[in-house]
Amino acid sequence: MSSLSDTRLDGRQIAGRRILLGISAGIAAYKSAQLARLLTQAGAEVRVVMTEGAQAFIAPLTLQALTGEAVRTSLLDPEAEAGMGHIELARWADTILIAPATADLMARLAMGLADDLLTTLCLASDADKVMAPAMNQAMWRHPATRRNAAQLADDGWRLLGPASGDQACGDVGPGRMLEPEAILEALLAPAPGVAIPPTDGDGDGDGDAAGLHLVITAGPTREPLDPVRYLSNHSSGKMGYALAAAAAALGARVTLISGPVALATPEGVERLDVETASEMHAAAQRLASECDLFIGCAAVADYRAESPADHKIKKREGEESLTLRLVKNPDIIAEVAARADRPFVVGFAAETRDLEAYARDKLARKGLDMIVANDVSQAGLGFGADDNAALLLWRDGEGESGEALPPQPKAALARAVIERALERRRAAATD
Ligand code: C5P
Repeated sequence: MSSLSDTRLDGRQIAGRRILLGISAGIAAYKSAQLARLLTQAGAEVRVVMTEGAQAFIAPLTLQALTGEAVRTSLLDPEAEAGMGHIELARWADTILIAPATADLMARLAMGLADDLLTTLCLASDADKVMAPAMNQAMWRHPATRRNAAQLADDGWRLLGPASGDQACGDVGPGRMLEPEAILEALLAPAPGVAIPPTDGDGDGDGDAAGLHLVITAGPTREPLDPVRYLSNHSSGKMGYALAAAAAALGARVTLISGPVALATPEGVERLDVETASEMHAAAQRLASECDLFIGCAAVADYRAESPADHKIKKREGEESLTLRLVKNPDIIAEVAARADRPFVVGFAAETRDLEAYARDKLARKGLDMIVANDVSQAGLGFGADDNAALLLWRDGEGESGEALPPQPKAALARAVIERALERRRAAATD
């Protein structure tokens, strides 16, 4: 991660911002003190609102000492209202940042409830809205939380993280709040539509993704056979996550639709966790019309069980074989590309032979604008590896030989792929 003394992190874009820091009832609330301190050090005006439960984890006085402002905790507090009424406070903020955001708070916000000061402010404010979810991994994976996260993203919230790893409850998995430094860095990424200076180093703005929304699918899908078994594949998600990180670094708003992987969410990236191809399909369809560029990097299972068993499938005495009936999954990227309001669409082709021919066929058959073809038969490259090489092919490029990107770390390859996709998209728009 960049250090706080980076030129990009010198407080330029934080100084003078009026940030309403919302804290809800999670153990990660102890990190909110550090976050408040970093924000004020960077020159922001910070006012803190805590939910009732948050006060069990961290004392309002701590936040008051760090921000120099009284902490608000109640909607019906005549004394506080006499100072700055809650509607005035909602108008005052240019950014509402909730860290940590618990599952309960996410549910209440997704429903548009206004049953305490923090939810009321969120509903009453036009500010840029950002949250860093934090909760137990099972709560984060629960379909209800996934629905709420998708709804909040739809409503314009930027979700930062959560990261994966050890949890306070002893579990391991997604649900850890991003570190305060990472939240600060993500705040520096532009809100959609806000321009930032070119970041590609050559100063001409090529590859600059400010103001664009990218949706990227990544990782494998899991297709349940019964409550304990599933069909899946070896995709690590590394390439898709590298693409998301590269796009965010170029200033894009990035939504990562991720299958189950053991990777931390790149900084500044909104992540929607899914398990099955059907869930990935639904999320992609929902986001397709509002994004500028869609990249299908997920290794989607081609088939799923026609009817997953409700109970664990038992071994049967005397039966040496078991027949599973599979049905085809939707082709997610082809459906995005077939929409009338389609974004620029980039697909991946992992092949073990006849790379170019198969990739060209996929490009045409799925209606893609560009395809990134990998030869996954090469040792040390592709699936699970840290390095990759690729052949880029694009629509209307039949006569051209494409562009070969040599073996390199996935982060560097991802950057090159994003830059080429942005160039091609720009060229297609001006044709
Ligand atoms: O057909 P194949 O799986 O080789 O195509 C790979 C490309 O199509 C990738 O971009 C992958 O993410 C996408 N895909 C998809 N939905 C599927 C199968 C593949 O989006 N059901």
